[in-house]
Parts: sequence; structure tokens; C-alpha cells
Amino acid sequence: MKFFIDTANPGEIRKAYEMGVIDGVTTNPTLISKENRDFDSLIKDICGIIRNLPISLEVIGLKSEEMIREARTLSKIGDNVVVKIPMTSEGLKAVHVLIPEGIKTNTTLVFSATQALLAAKAGSTYISPFIGRLDDISQAGMELVEQIVTIFNNYDFKSEVIVASIRHPIHVLEAALIGADVATIPYKVIEQLTKHPLTDIGIERFLEDWKKVPKK
Ligand code: E4P
Repeated sequence: MKFFIDTANPGEIRKAYEMGVIDGVTTNPTLISKENRDFDSLIKDICGIIRNLPISLEVIGLKSEEMIREARTLSKIGDNVVVKIPMTSEGLKAVHVLIPEGIKTNTTLVFSATQALLAAKAGSTYISPFIGRLDDISQAGMELVEQIVTIFNNYDFKSEVIVASIRHPIHVLEAALIGADVATIPYKVIEQLTKHPLTDIGIERFLEDWKKVPKK
């Protein structure tokens, strides 16, 4: 299972990278805007940290021609750039053009298994179901992941499933149990994953007991 970090914050990316637990980065316009700095220098900084790991950067255009133009520009940043394309009929058209050009795509804002099926048919490299946003409206997001993984296995589709819009550690656990290819995780949740109260208590007790060991 791959872990991507879902942020555009270089500090968070560096910390997760140094832990050796991330295999890529996903961003979106909201995450980029939070950094409040020039896009080109921000991406240069991030790529300097993650080197060749994949980084998803999203297009803004709504028409396929605009998406294709933006995707070609973004892909010049580096071979590791994956272009995030919204799941619309225009987006599918863009994927259909970009994949044969060797440009990797991440079809984003996927909220149904049939949308995922279409994106896989179009050949998208990655497909991102947004589970937290479904949970937010009282639909079980993880059931969508189960459906997508089952369909992709049934037909041996090559697209990788990125479980996105993750809100807490249980989402990561369930994604792993289902066998999703990737979870893209906010830094806060990566930190939560490291923690267990018994680990803290255990360290404290070992340190206390160590003080009792006679030393020369
Ligand atoms: C995925 O690629 C998106 O960037 C992200 O997971 C969206 O998460 P949100 O619903 O917390 O905004």
C-alpha cells in the first residue's frame, strides 16, 4: 500500500518524507491557496524535498482543451508530475488525450463507482474517490472504495485507487483492509497514526526503571 501526503505545505512534506513513510504528494487548489505563495517556487520547493516521487497538481480549466493545455504545461515541471483532472465528461476527454502522450493523470472528485469505472475505461493512471466528503453527507465513503476495488479487480483495470479526503486513522485502516492501492493522508492524520497511549506509557516506564539501574 502506498501513502501519499495530502498537503502543499513543504514543512509537513519534509517531516513525513524524513519518516520514510510517504510515496507521493497530492495537492488541490484549496491546499495550494493555503500556502499563500507563488505557485512555481512552491512546487520547486516541494519537488526538491520529494525528488522523483509522484506529485498531483490540479488543472483549473473546465473544457478539455484547457485541461490538456494546462496538463502539458504542468507536466514540463518534471516526470513525476501527475495531472489532476476533475471527473467530468470534459475531464475524461482530456485523460483520453493525455495518457497516450505519456502524461499521468489522477481523476479527482470521484463520488460514485460508475464515475470510477468511466475514469478507468478512459485510462486514468489514478482515480481518487473522496470518502470524507461522502461521510460528511451521511453516505458511507468506504463502501464506495470497496465497490471500486471490487470492480477494478473483476476486470483487471490498471488504474490505481487513491483513497482521498481522509479525515482520521480509521479511514486509513479500512482502506488498507479493503486493499486500496494508495491512501492520501493529511499530515495531522499521519501524526495520529504514529501514536498509541501504551507506547507513551511504555517509554515513560522504561525511562523510570532505567534510572534504578546501578551505573558506574
Ligand atoms: C485529494 O486528492 C484531495 O486533495 C483531498 O483528499 C480532499 O480532501 P478534503 O475533502 O479534506 O478537502
